[in-house]
Amino acid sequence: ATVSTEPRRRATQADDATAAAGGAGGDVAPFDNAPDTDAAVAESRRWALGLIDPVTDERLLAELPPVTTLSTADDADAAVARAVAQTSTWAETPVATRAAVLRSVADHLEAARGDLVATMVHEAGKTVGESDPEVSEAVDFARWYAEQSLRLDPEHPDADPGAVFHPHGVTVVTPPWNFPVAIPLGSVLGALAAGSPVIIKPSHVTPRCARVGMAAVHRALDDHGIDRDVAQVVLSDEGDVGQRLVTHPDVTRVILTGAIETARRFTSWRSDLEVLAETSGKNALVVTPSADVDLAVADVVRSAFGHAGQKCSAASLLILVGSAGRSDRLRRQLADAVSTLRVGYGTSLSTTMGPLTEAASGKLLRALTTLEPGERWLVEPRRLSDDGHLWTPGVRYWVAPGSFFHMTEVFGPVLGVMRVDTLDEAIALQNAVEFGLTGGIHSLDEDEIDHWLERVEVGNAYVNRHITGAIVRRQPFGGWKASVVGPGAKAGGPDYVAQLGVWEDSPAVP
Ligand code: SER
Repeated sequence: ATVSTEPRRRATQADDATAAAGGAGGDVAPFDNAPDTDAAVAESRRWALGLIDPVTDERLLAELPPVTTLSTADDADAAVARAVAQTSTWAETPVATRAAVLRSVADHLEAARGDLVATMVHEAGKTVGESDPEVSEAVDFARWYAEQSLRLDPEHPDADPGAVFHPHGVTVVTPPWNFPVAIPLGSVLGALAAGSPVIIKPSHVTPRCARVGMAAVHRALDDHGIDRDVAQVVLSDEGDVGQRLVTHPDVTRVILTGAIETARRFTSWRSDLEVLAETSGKNALVVTPSADVDLAVADVVRSAFGHAGQKCSAASLLILVGSAGRSDRLRRQLADAVSTLRVGYGTSLSTTMGPLTEAASGKLLRALTTLEPGERWLVEPRRLSDDGHLWTPGVRYWVAPGSFFHMTEVFGPVLGVMRVDTLDEAIALQNAVEFGLTGGIHSLDEDEIDHWLERVEVGNAYVNRHITGAIVRRQPFGGWKASVVGPGAKAGGPDYVAQLGVWEDSPAVP
């Protein structure tokens, strides 16, 4: 008998939130998030084993055009010229057609789920467990932004009859390597939904992931007879190609996800540049004495060490309040949970913490190797491979207020623990950092939770949950303070598409 290697999907969880908001008639639009592959099912595990096989990687490499053909600054200029030529056609394409293109993208992404996961595992060093939900997120962006684009039509029942929307025009997308499918596609699809042609310059670390993802976009454009120049890819590892794109006078909008330093560099190149950027984070999870320790430890570990901490959303600090800071049980459970993470490459299904993809930066190396005054290792990180890619996770305590580790994003598998007497002190430590991306509280006390929610200065505040892994529509993702540049409507939220253009008063309405 033939063994099925088709993955099974978990039942979607979307409708619980929709039902809580009053079902389809509530104030939250019904939306089915794409389900992830269910790893509890044997067929799914067989499917995953096929994806991590080197043969899959060889096949993908053979199918993709070689990445050795990098674009030059002249190619960047030519790409902008082709995008300019598409600007009015795409802007004037009916929103229903643009939405249909995005829905086709979602279908093509689902069809390519296996190739996308395999490419993330082999190229970006992600585990299958981290990669599969990223495909779901990309599918969600496509379907959600398709719905949101319909609201730009003046005939839509929710439309403001007094306002007319004009897309920004040629948009450059510069995504990061750490979410090499969901973030590039989310940005590209947002701009396409708004009616702007896009040029994406993927990270030089993950060009194949971008290629496989953008192939789904191109297939969808083909399905609807639309010129592929509406969504172009410029591959380069040269800073000057990126600079040429970003500073090109015909580029009207840049969507960046990356370090705060990159956002600052972009605006220093061109002061009038319209940048929409989601940047860095220095995120903390607060645990109060009322918390369920078992749940808190599991969520801390997931938030801090998922993708080896290489997420802008990762928990980098754990702040223990009152007796939680004196709890031997919490400390022991944390040390045990962290020490038993299985470090390795995503090409083994048992890996729970993957490699550091880029050679460790100076900031990360300092965090992984150096203790600051007053700090001790609860779990000391160790380098497992000479190339610097594999490190075991680390936990240090007690991090001092105002210290390097309190204030600096390190983007790696190391968690700092702080302790305070009161929740207000915890909030003050959280709010003292320049960034405001994610944050969490573990508490079973409603008053504490409300108190924290009213005061914490983060874009995504999570209660009794891990603080990474935002979900389109249910938990739109975006920062506050230095974590965001530009208009700042959240990715996966109701206003993301509508911010990618200019609203003008309708001449017809006085
Ligand atoms: N959206 C991701 C998360 O929530 C980060 O980019 O973890």
